Amino acid sequence: MSRNIMITGVSRGLGNVLAAGLLDAGHRVAGCSRVVNDAQQSICENNNNLRVDSVDLTDDKAVRVWVNNVVREWGVPDLVINNAGVISDNLPLWDVPLEQFQQVMSVNLQGVYSVIRHVMPHLLDAKQGVIANLSSGWGRSVAAGVAPYCCSKWGIEGMTLALAEDLPQGLAAVPVNPGIINTDMLQSFFGADANSAEDPKRWAEKAVPFFLGLNASDNGRSLSV
Ligand SMILES: NC(=O)c1ccc[n+]([C@@H]2O[C@H](COP(=O)([O-])OP(=O)(O)OC[C@H]3O[C@@H](n4cnc5c(N)ncnc54)[C@H](OP(=O)(O)O)[C@@H]3O)[C@@H](O)[C@H]2O)c1
Repeated sequence: MSRNIMITGVSRGLGNVLAAGLLDAGHRVAGCSRVVNDAQQSICENNNNLRVDSVDLTDDKAVRVWVNNVVREWGVPDLVINNAGVISDNLPLWDVPLEQFQQVMSVNLQGVYSVIRHVMPHLLDAKQGVIANLSSGWGRSVAAGVAPYCCSKWGIEGMTLALAEDLPQGLAAVPVNPGIINTDMLQSFFGADANSAEDPKRWAEKAVPFFLGLNASDNGRSLSV
């Protein structure tokens, strides 16, 4: 059965291949990112099952408008994937510029909170729905040079597991560690070494069934693709 899926950060990386894979699997995908790339724009023009909106997740009002437009036009989502994320330059914490620290928190934590706060009233009305928040290996361990990112992803684990406690039966919230995949984000941390990491399209072959398999019984579980 076709499902309504909302996913953030679809212009590139994991969100891009997930959106394509979920669309190919016959589902309706409502994505957002700051940039709407030309390839997605042209798919949207020919396929009513994909919509992509330009939304900056650090703008709570823009997130509210996006969520409410999608729900009004398509109905309540069955699955919400909070995928968009950023990482600061690879530096010791004390050398990280304030603006970069704030941007990591604004996108990786506040952006996820904004989507949740605007989508939850609809999921509560529908008495069903799964929220999957992209965590990281660095949401469960740490490394040098990525303190703001670790802070945000440990925060995602905590926020999601606490949200799971708030939810009534029938709904689920899960933090998901995707693995290590060769995207712009990985390149920014590992440089050329990222080339040996998993290809995003290969990753999507297992990630699509993984996300589609999530259900209410997963509520509060820290999962990995
Ligand atoms: N790649 C990995 O190995 C890996 C490992 C662990 C966890 N993760 C997590 O997986 C998720 C996806 O990572 P990725 O590797 O695919 O990253 P990526 O290639 O850098 O893509 C990030 C996506 O987030 C969007 N985004 C960033 N800031 C945004 C904002 N303010 N508003 C809306 N969208 C925004 C970007 O679109 P625009 O720039 O167009 O806005 C882009 O589509 C992230 O949460 C990341 O932390 C990735």
